Amino acid sequence: MIVPTRVLFEHAYGKYALGAYNINNLEQAMGLFRGNMDSQAPFIIQISKGARGYTDKRMLEAIIRTADTIWPDALFAVHLDHGDEETCYECIESGFYSSVMIDGSHLPYEENIATTARVVEAAHKRGVSVEAELGILGGVEEHIKVDEKDARLTDPDEAKDFVERTGCDSLACAIGTSHGAYKFSGSQGIHLERIAEIQKRLPGFPLVMHGSSSVPQDEVERINAAGGAIKNASGVDPSKYLPAARLGVCKVNIDTDGRLVWCRVHREFFRDNPAKFDLRDPGKIFMSEYAKFIASRNELLGSAGQLAAAREHVMASAK
Ligand code: G3H
Ligand code: 13P
Ligand code: ZN
Repeated sequence: MIVPTRVLFEHAYGKYALGAYNINNLEQAMGLFRGNMDSQAPFIIQISKGARGYTDKRMLEAIIRTADTIWPDALFAVHLDHGDEETCYECIESGFYSSVMIDGSHLPYEENIATTARVVEAAHKRGVSVEAELGILGGVEEHIKVDEKDARLTDPDEAKDFVERTGCDSLACAIGTSHGAYKFSGSQGIHLERIAEIQKRLPGFPLVMHGSSSVPQDEVERINAAGGAIKNASGVDPSKYLPAARLGVCKVNIDTDGRLVWCRVHREFFRDNPAKFDLRDPGKIFMSEYAKFIASRNELLGSAGQLAAAREHVMASAK
C-alpha cells in the first residue's frame, strides 16, 4: 500500500530509519519488494529524474503499481529524489508521489528558501510532503559533481531558520557523507555530533541522510576479481545508521550499493558462463541477491520487523 511519507516518519522517529532505495527497472523493483517483505519492513521507493527518463516514467509507475498488487501487505511511500522545481510540480500534479525532494542545495541560501517555499505551497495543496536540502554534499549526482573542498556541512542555526521559513516536512542535511562509491576521500567522516546539534534546534523534525551507501568491500573485491576496476572505493559505516536514527534521521538514502550488487552479479555471471547470453539467467540471480541485500540493510536500519506496527500506525492515523 502506498502511504504518506509523513505518516511513516511519525512511526519511525527516534526509533529506526526507513531505507530509501532508488529503483530504475523491473529487476530492482522485484528485489526491493521481496527484500522488504522478507524482512517485514516499511520502506521508501525513490525515483530520480534520471530514473524517470531512463525508459519512460510511466513504465516505472506501472511497475510499482503492479508490485503493490502482487504484495498487498507491503507498506511504502513513493518519493521523487533530487528534484528540480519543474519535476517537483510534475510529480505533485501526477498524484502518484507521496513526497518530493526539492534540491536547492546548490542555490544561494535565500534562493533555496524561496524555491523550497514555492514547492511546499504547491505540494501541501495536494497532500504531498516535501524534503528540502541544506548544506552541500560531496560526490556525484545526476550530472553534478561536487569536489570535497566545495562540500559544506549543514549549519544547525540555518537549518532551524530554513525549516521555519519554508514549511518543508523533512530536511536532508550534509553531515559528511557524499554520493557515489568514493566517499571520505580526504579526512572526511560522518558527523553524528552535527546531527545531534541539528536535532537540538529541530526536536521531533524528520532529518534525512543522503549518500548513505556502505560500499561493501567484499562487493568491490568481487567486482574487481571479475574484471572491474573500482579503486579506492569506500562508504558509510552501516553501524552508524541506528545511532543516526536515534538522533532524528528517519530516512537513509541508498542507491550506489544496489548498483554494486548488480555489477557484481553480472560480471561474475558472464565471467563464469562465457557461452551464455540469456538476460534472465543473471537477472534471476540479481533479484535474489538484491532482496538479500535489502533485508540486510533493513536489519541495520532497525526497520526490519516494523511492518505490522507501522501498518497499525497508518490505519490509526487514517481514522
Ligand atoms: O543521489 C543520486 C541518486 O543516487 C540517484 O542517482 O540520478 O543517477 O539516478 P541518478
Ligand atoms: P549513495 O550514492 O550513497 O547510495 O546515496 C544515494 C542518495 O543519496 C540518493 O539520493
Ligand atoms: Zn542523494
